[in-house]
Amino acid sequence: MAFPATRLRRLRRTAVLRDMVRETTLRPADLIQPLFVRAGEGPGEPVESMPGVERLSISGLVEEAGAVSAAGVPAVILFGIPAAKDEAGSGAYDDEGIVQMAIRALKEAHPELVVIADTCLCEYTSHGHCGVLRDGDVDNDLSLELIARTALSQAQAGADAVAPSDMMDGRVAAIRSALDGEGLGATPILSYAVKYASAFYGPFREAAGSTPSEGDRRGYQMDPANGREAMREALADLDEGADMLMVKPAVPYLDVLARLRDRTDAPLAAYHVSGEFSMLKAAGANGWLDERAAALESLTAIKRAGADLIVTYYAKDAAEWLTK
Ligand code: PBG
Repeated sequence: MAFPATRLRRLRRTAVLRDMVRETTLRPADLIQPLFVRAGEGPGEPVESMPGVERLSISGLVEEAGAVSAAGVPAVILFGIPAAKDEAGSGAYDDEGIVQMAIRALKEAHPELVVIADTCLCEYTSHGHCGVLRDGDVDNDLSLELIARTALSQAQAGADAVAPSDMMDGRVAAIRSALDGEGLGATPILSYAVKYASAFYGPFREAAGSTPSEGDRRGYQMDPANGREAMREALADLDEGADMLMVKPAVPYLDVLARLRDRTDAPLAAYHVSGEFSMLKAAGANGWLDERAAALESLTAIKRAGADLIVTYYAKDAAEWLTK
């Protein structure tokens, strides 16, 4: 690589040359749009910390999902906000629950749209934890039963995939066996295998009203300081039957994503989370950076690190930016 023979600038000279040697391409087909659906009718309720994001009624959701699909985004992931919450998160596995009704409405209106259900109890429990409490702690094995019931009920409603985000040990195996036992062996599991106890989920918790009333999630979500442990989480989920794995958050954990890319040939997703979105929105609104360029750069970096799929609140906008 001796100078002056080697001049890396030669291939950066024109847009066409740069395009020819570009290593990573971001496509609308790589993106998954998260959507919030709430019980009740009426207009969307804005989420203050996430400009442009709303908690939608089922009819609002059907309309927005149509726009997402028209932009070229193939999939949505759904989060439900129920009318009432209880200790056991029963709204999560109610066949007439908000997400189950939303799935049926979406599949009827947009059969081609891939509908992924986030499988967790935290939006449905009165205490906001991702499982059920026993003696002040989230009981792993008791929670498994309810999480598997939730996934089953979502798949029976027509979800194209279920995505457990609770971080209980053994949930992928529990869900796989519940689905297979009811003839839903073809429903894939996208496991949030590597999910950190992150401060970047703050805006989501405002959106979903799911901040734990006591304690935090560090007893089940991963310590942000750990990278090797992420490989153990991911490989365990693959052994239990996960079809796709997710790393979350995305940009602060690109090293973890890249390491995982080297360890598995399974499809990998990354979740560009609410806090990552809100930071770009806030800086953009202040004129401190070019929001569109910074968002597309972030998403491209996530792909470069090894993600096949990206869950992002920018999905619809990014798809439009990429095709206009
Ligand atoms: C539910 C869940 C959370 C997110 C996705 N699924 C919240 C949490 O774990 O507190 C966060 C998504 C985001 O911040 O965009 N367990």
